[in-house]
Amino acid sequence: MARILLTSKLFDASLGALVDHELVLPKPEGSMTTEEIIESARDTDAIICQLTDHIGETVLSACPQLKVVATVSVGFNNVDVAAATRAGIPVCNTPGVLTETTADLAFALILAACRVLSDSERDLRRGGYKRWELDGYLGQDVYGATLGLVGYGRVGQAVAKRAEGFSMRVIHYDLVPSGLPGWVDDLDELLAQVDIVSLHVPLSAETRHLIDARRLALMKPTAVVVNTSRGPVVDEEALAGALESGRLFGAGIDVYENEPIVHPRLLNAPRAVLLPHIGSASFATRLAMATLATSAVAEVLAGGRPPNTVNPEVFAN
Ligand code: DGY
Repeated sequence: MARILLTSKLFDASLGALVDHELVLPKPEGSMTTEEIIESARDTDAIICQLTDHIGETVLSACPQLKVVATVSVGFNNVDVAAATRAGIPVCNTPGVLTETTADLAFALILAACRVLSDSERDLRRGGYKRWELDGYLGQDVYGATLGLVGYGRVGQAVAKRAEGFSMRVIHYDLVPSGLPGWVDDLDELLAQVDIVSLHVPLSAETRHLIDARRLALMKPTAVVVNTSRGPVVDEEALAGALESGRLFGAGIDVYENEPIVHPRLLNAPRAVLLPHIGSASFATRLAMATLATSAVAEVLAGGRPPNTVNPEVFAN
């Protein structure tokens, strides 16, 4: 029997794979601080964490028995994978199961931002809808528009499929050439062409502030930026400035640079649709993510090598 720390509560239905193990459960309220994680994880064999937990070298080195870390997310920038690899600890994530749900939300943000849904609904709720006006609440068409996908992995390609139904022209850029139709090898060139850009890259040193003031200035003033990847991929201050000045038409944002804090200028910026990181938040998908994470941990503890290990090289040793 191994000891497994859950840094946050998981759905009961996702715990089946762990029945033979002892679970160290989180406090009922809120998430754990790094100090609390270290305190609780000291004598555990596994940690199942959330994207909001930072599992860095300090945590890893404080847990001499640790055999596996699983994050209940596809993004794994919250775990110091290099340090885990040095320590021979596999890190597992949850790819695949959230692709379609996240693509649905990205498309919802494309529609909401282009058609100014947040601002118009807010105006109606405040009593601002007095009469139908020919020039009231005007937005940008989605049907037939040019969509630029930055990051053309699972989620990017799933968004492209949805765009077909809207007769959109779809082009894409990625850090590694995709070799697929619609590839544009220069991000600046893609940004200058598109009506909507939707971001689907993981967060890394290369993608931090990939969309900055200079790149926003390359976009059409009628264009919309959608981000369901990781907040720091966009320079929020620059995005807020572009929206305030009308240099950019709109934005649909699900992720932020300093979650859960949202940049105050973004909160007040016009034509910004802002959501609280709900890309994968459907009942079925969140359960599937938690189940994939618990199964991966059980598999490693049983001597297996789950395919959803982001540093499989640790198994070679
Ligand atoms: C992930 O899994 O990385 C997503 O951001 C959660 O929605």
